[in-house]
Amino acid sequence: MADEHTHTGDPVPPGRHPFSRKTLLKAALVAVPMPALLGSGVALARDHGPSDAPLAPTPVCDDGDDPTPSQIEGPYFKPNSPQRASLLEPGTRGTRLTVGGFVFGLTCRPVARALLDFWQADATGAYDNRGFGLRGHQYTDARGAFTLTTIVPGLYPGRTRHLHVKVQAPGGPVLTTQLYFPGEPRNNTDPIFHPALLMNVRQAGPALQATFDFVIGGSRT
Ligand SMILES: [Fe+2]
Repeated sequence: MADEHTHTGDPVPPGRHPFSRKTLLKAALVAVPMPALLGSGVALARDHGPSDAPLAPTPVCDDGDDPTPSQIEGPYFKPNSPQRASLLEPGTRGTRLTVGGFVFGLTCRPVARALLDFWQADATGAYDNRGFGLRGHQYTDARGAFTLTTIVPGLYPGRTRHLHVKVQAPGGPVLTTQLYFPGEPRNNTDPIFHPALLMNVRQAGPALQATFDFVIGGSRT
């Protein structure tokens, strides 16, 4: 994996709090006018430009959540993917998909400059093993946010629909995992499928918009 991080971080044990971070975050995002969340950091990540100011603890990011489960890498990972947030190239076929979200550390602060390296099958279920089609890495911004622009991966024998990703906080260990789509019939038969890795997905015209937040260890946040 293309990686400029050094390995100097120590895992931080998870805090225990009475409320689920995701529950509170999502509730706040839905129910509270955005100005009320000033200072929370996370909820405003998509509305403000990058900032180098230190992040304050995020009140809505309390934690009963477990770390994002790891999954097998599979046979199609290739290191040294290009750095790009969009995997679309001229001629890329398939239903457009965006995946947005945040990377959190175990103490629930967003992780800036976390590495996310995505790879996936094309619309016909084939991986590009000769080049870097539908492969790319990016970094979270100062508020821990990322957005991937790609297509919905096709199905291939033995697996349900999925994206592959490696996630790494600066100086932390690499989390290798996969993301899934709700409502897929093969979710019920794929032994690798894990419900904790389901994205939230909604139709947006002809495209799909998905969200997923990672919770990873090894960050210094
Ligand atoms: Fe795969």
